[in-house]
Amino acid sequence: MLEEKINKIKEDALAEILAVESLAQLNDLRIKFLGRKSEFTNILKSLKDLTEQERKTVGQIANATKIEVESVLAEKEKELKEKSFDFAAEKIDVTMPAKKLQRGHLHPLSKIQYEIEDIFNSMGFEIADGPEVETEFYNFDALNIPKDHPARDMQDTFWLKDEGKDEKVVMRTQTSDVQIRFMEKHTPPFRIIAPGRVFRRESTDTTHDHTFHQFEALMVGEDITVGNLKFVAEQFFSKFFKADVEIRLRPSYFPFTEPSFEFDINCLVCGGKGCSSCKWAGWLELGGAGIVNQNVFEAVGYPRNKYQGFAWGFGLERLAMMKYKIDDVRLFHSGDLRFIKQF
Ligand code: DAH
Repeated sequence: MLEEKINKIKEDALAEILAVESLAQLNDLRIKFLGRKSEFTNILKSLKDLTEQERKTVGQIANATKIEVESVLAEKEKELKEKSFDFAAEKIDVTMPAKKLQRGHLHPLSKIQYEIEDIFNSMGFEIADGPEVETEFYNFDALNIPKDHPARDMQDTFWLKDEGKDEKVVMRTQTSDVQIRFMEKHTPPFRIIAPGRVFRRESTDTTHDHTFHQFEALMVGEDITVGNLKFVAEQFFSKFFKADVEIRLRPSYFPFTEPSFEFDINCLVCGGKGCSSCKWAGWLELGGAGIVNQNVFEAVGYPRNKYQGFAWGFGLERLAMMKYKIDDVRLFHSGDLRFIKQF
């Protein structure tokens, strides 16, 4: 009895499925023949009332039927889907102009920094660095700037709130702290540069910002002189600007060098004649330089008068401004994409 019923369902189902012409109709048939309220499902539910023997044979037939109907359903579905695929609507116009991708790139200051590092690497210099939040010891004391020394006032300093630590902490005012950190761990001879961010508590104008970059150089051995300082600087500038650059040393004072110099290069925008980039001076002030004071060597534990070294701390922005002819240092940190995108 049940077997006949099942066979009848199967025949009806297959016939109707084969005749169907849309996916919606096909779905209706799936519900009609195999759905929860279908005759077929009712038969399955009633199997439990049969004898074990009957249950076995009818169960097998029901199972085979279900599998067959499902596979015919699936086949029909595939066929209908292929038929209804709308090629015209799905057509892709490969000649349409693509959306332009916005690609990021390095900040001009990073570019300059990497360029400087490459040049100094090629001259046998190592790259060193140190923390931007620095202790009073590394930023001042070890650099021969004692607590009560007037030279402390040369740099307007951001002092950080005392967190109960023994030592006072600053936003470093110069990359010269890296000299100390490096020398504490190394013995001469060596040559390093240390590019990094520094901070000054001062008002800003076209050539001054509260946050800027320096790159420190330090070369130490037993017979280093101002001649080495000049030579290395000239080599660097000619590679960096791809032009001969004139340099000028003016006597100055820094506690960590003796003698000390202000270091200028001739203005490459006007060739030294005077223009707005060099503020009509014909020269551009890059930073300080000098021969390392023996007190500094002593602070890192080197024996006095055994070594000689030169050092400098140049402004990275100043070099970038000269190279790219930028007339306001504050543009670098403005976040203005119209500026950044030009590089
Ligand atoms: N640290 C100094 C400053 O920021 C610049 C400087 C002067 C660095 C002389 C040096 C140096 O290494 O030898 O004003």
